[in-house]
Order: sequence, then C-alpha cells, then structure tokens
Amino acid sequence: MKTWEKENGVKFLRKAGLRPGQIVLDFGCKVGHYAIPAAFVVGSKGIVYAVDKEQQALNELQQKARANNLKNVKIIKTSGQIKLDFEHESIDIVLFYDLLHYHGKKGRKKLYEEASRVLKQDGLLSVYPKHTLKDDPLEQFKKLSLNDVKREIEDSDFYFKEKYCGIISHNNGLNQGCVLNFRKK
Ligand SMILES: C[S@@+](CC[C@H](N)C(=O)[O-])C[C@H]1O[C@@H](n2cnc3c(N)ncnc32)[C@H](O)[C@@H]1O
Repeated sequence: MKTWEKENGVKFLRKAGLRPGQIVLDFGCKVGHYAIPAAFVVGSKGIVYAVDKEQQALNELQQKARANNLKNVKIIKTSGQIKLDFEHESIDIVLFYDLLHYHGKKGRKKLYEEASRVLKQDGLLSVYPKHTLKDDPLEQFKKLSLNDVKREIEDSDFYFKEKYCGIISHNNGLNQGCVLNFRKK
C-alpha cells in the first residue's frame, strides 16, 4: 500500500478534485489509505481531518503520518456520532470513502446533512460507495445499486458533478472502483 499512499493514491485524489491548500474531512478514515495521499496532495498549507471511531486504526494512521513527516494530518477519535465539532462551511472536501454501507438510510441522511453543513458553499462531497448490489454487496448496501446511492445523495442537498473510475484502494488491497463527486445545491 506504500506505492498507493505515496504515488497512485495521490494521482487519483488529484484527478478526483483535491488541490494544494485545501481543508479535507476524511470521515471514516481507518488507517488512512486515503487520508495519507490526501495529505500529500493538500501539502503543508492544507489540512486533512481524519475522523474515525476505531482507536487502533487511528494509532496506525498516526504512525504513518509521523513516518512520512506529514504534520497536516489532524486525527479525531469519535464515539461514532455523525455531528462533528466543525464550524459551518469550514471544509473544502468531505470524503465518504467505503463508509456509507455501515449506515442505514436514516444514518446516511444524517451524514449527507452533516457534509452539507460543514462544506463551504463551493465545497465537494466525494463518495466511494463500495459494497453496493454488484460490488461485493454488504450490510446496509446489500440491495442498493450504485445508482440508488447516487440518487439518494441527489435527493439530499447535493447535485451530481462527475464520476472518476480507476484502480483504487480498498481495505489493504486495490480494486476497480468509482468515486462520485457532488456539489452543494
Ligand atoms: C471500511 S473502512 C474505510 C476506511 C477508508 N475510508 C478507506 O476507504 O480506506 C470504514 C471506516 O469507517 C469507520 N466508521 C464507520 N462509521 C463511522 C462513524 N459513524 N464515525 C466514525 N467512523 C466511522 C469505521 O470505523 C471504519 O474504520
């Protein structure tokens, strides 16, 4: 995963819209397969807020950030609550990568509302909806297609902007996947 985090993930996140100096919220960051490359992209003038409820995963992320001398990764351990301690309209990009299937319809609605609250007016919600109907279906996504997920986000406070596909990180490996980007309405 080192090549992903330092090279291919960096390229992919640039393609997906991340830019130097931005403030990123990686909600459900786990060990940082996206938070670390995001930190390389946004650079020393940017910040990656890496949020998770699993302390052990966050410890691993902390070690990786230190090993890579990335001082712009700010780790936040939560109890799993959706509402976070960020100001309104303070974030440039929210990442929901391989996260939504953990949550039922109501929980996902709250996640979209929180993303909308914290995102700046021209902010981007970037979503990797893994585990949908035709993509190793799991948990709350078992019966939902990628399009169903896209539609439910469009039914919240966002409109669909674009889709980026490629070989991307999943757990500790790589797979073909697509990221959907949304803008606030
Ligand atoms: C499958 S992992 C994905 C990790 C990372 N985003 C990636 O794509 O490599 C999902 C992570 O989301 C976290 N998570 C799920 N619901 C959460 C919540 N409500 N608050 C904080 N973390 C959450 C889990 O603890 C887990 O570490």
